[in-house]
Amino acid sequence: MTGDEPLEESESGEPTTGEPLTDGDERSSSALRTDGGAAGADDVALDPWGSSSVSDYRKLFEEFGIEEFDEVLEEVPNPHYLMRRGVIFGHRDYRPVAEALRNDEPAAVLSGFMPTGDPHIGHKLVFDEIIWHQQQGADAYALIADLEANSARGMSWAEIDEHSRDYLLSLLALGFDPEEGTLYRQSTNRELQDLAFELGAEANFSELQAIYGFDGETDVSHMQSVVTQMADILYPQLEEPKPTVIPVGPDQDPHVRLARDLAERMRFFKVSEAYASFELEDDERELVAEFYDRLDPADFDDETLRCVHVAEALEETPLSEIDADADTLSSVLTKLEEAGMEPVRPRTRFFDRRATEEAFDALIDAIEGEKRVYESHVDAFDVDRDEAEELARETEVDNGGYGFRPPSSIYHRFMTGLTGGKMSSSIPASHISLLDDPEDGYDKVKAATTGGRETAEEQREKGGRADECPVYELYAYLLSGDDDEFAKRVYDECVGGERLCGDCKEQAAQLMKEFLEEHQEKRAEVEALLERTDIELESPRRR
Ligand code: TRP
Ligand code: SF4
Repeated sequence: MTGDEPLEESESGEPTTGEPLTDGDERSSSALRTDGGAAGADDVALDPWGSSSVSDYRKLFEEFGIEEFDEVLEEVPNPHYLMRRGVIFGHRDYRPVAEALRNDEPAAVLSGFMPTGDPHIGHKLVFDEIIWHQQQGADAYALIADLEANSARGMSWAEIDEHSRDYLLSLLALGFDPEEGTLYRQSTNRELQDLAFELGAEANFSELQAIYGFDGETDVSHMQSVVTQMADILYPQLEEPKPTVIPVGPDQDPHVRLARDLAERMRFFKVSEAYASFELEDDERELVAEFYDRLDPADFDDETLRCVHVAEALEETPLSEIDADADTLSSVLTKLEEAGMEPVRPRTRFFDRRATEEAFDALIDAIEGEKRVYESHVDAFDVDRDEAEELARETEVDNGGYGFRPPSSIYHRFMTGLTGGKMSSSIPASHISLLDDPEDGYDKVKAATTGGRETAEEQREKGGRADECPVYELYAYLLSGDDDEFAKRVYDECVGGERLCGDCKEQAAQLMKEFLEEHQEKRAEVEALLERTDIELESPRRR
């Protein structure tokens, strides 16, 4: 990469048409990255209503705690090609979903679409993710975020209806089964709005301000659209709690994190582990656990390990051998010393956070073995952590609570725009709409920026830069479909210098045209199917 070549664009912002590499005039943007990085952008702020570009996916792991998808890939049955090819690059807590799919246990998938324009090939990624989970046995939900489009984007109801229909037709054309799955629009889903109202009681303005940068000028409907999305994300669990995955772009991660928090705040009980009557923070608990394992009760009077003994042992241990910071150590010592002669006994603790009295009583009754009941918690001595979680959830559900599991998420890379930079609905040449005339789709691919070299000669010598090529991305994300070998062949031939951009784009353009033709035929075929679903295609609202 030379790092100094400008994007070749005409003044109108239209890219110059890339000619086959034979005459040596094709330029490529050195700033292009298949990881969706916009040239020069180095911020990783995740803003659901801002520009969706992420320049450095590694930072998402480091700063936001998104985990690498590769680490769960092996646990996923028949992984989708977007998973195999690293297009789905990250996740939060996907393991329970993968496990449920593997074991044919209940699971759900849900994602939402703001009907602000035409569905394009970036949305197709999400459609495919929903459909794949449905085919693996998950309950599938797709929703039209019409309240959000109206409040956050100012779309009129007529525009919303038109775009919604287009999203839904493409979703069905790609294979979503509406008889098995659920489609809804936010504005007409009463249950959803009730749930949103309830969730809203668990969040306050300061929190939305911190997460989304809302301020005194933010209108209340926009805030309402946030709690509505929270309700969307938890909606699949209204009937019963189940592992649920939300496939989205990483810009939606703030929503996922808030939904995970709210799910937790709605729970009746919180389960934790303790060693004595007092509370321990996570790092404090690790320290006590370590010493509990190390010490042998037989070494103490009446064969009982007491809090003071652990404190003494801690004090006798050189600091260098203690795997905790000074604050943790001193607070643990204080707690142990205050508890004095109290025996140390590991236990599972159930906190009553917002349970009704009946629910708390029911929980107490349901705990087997030795237990000790306090004002607002119960300690159980014969129930392990997992059993305790299960019991807490069951008791909650039996007593009128939701018992939500924290929703999981998977994140896909944003596609690079065909003209370089980010794919943007406002730049038609940068993306391919699923409604584009197949000939236009063909032309857009032919005109795309590539990762090719300046001359054919150079390309044969050094190979192309498939990793920085939006055309290669088309192959990997869409045109190769499930055929990994084909995608790999394109890649190898490109970087090996056997493939030149002219022919490569011709092939991609042809495949794109065929894809659009087929997709649009299927869209026409599913019209009737869409009419039969119970989603309202016309909003009664007009203003
Ligand atoms: N906010 C999403 C967007 O901007 C749309 C959306 C609404 C959504 N509710 C959702 C996405 C629930 C995932 C899950 O596109
Ligand atoms: Fe050129 Fe194709 Fe390689 Fe892209 S993938 S650089 S278009 S040969």
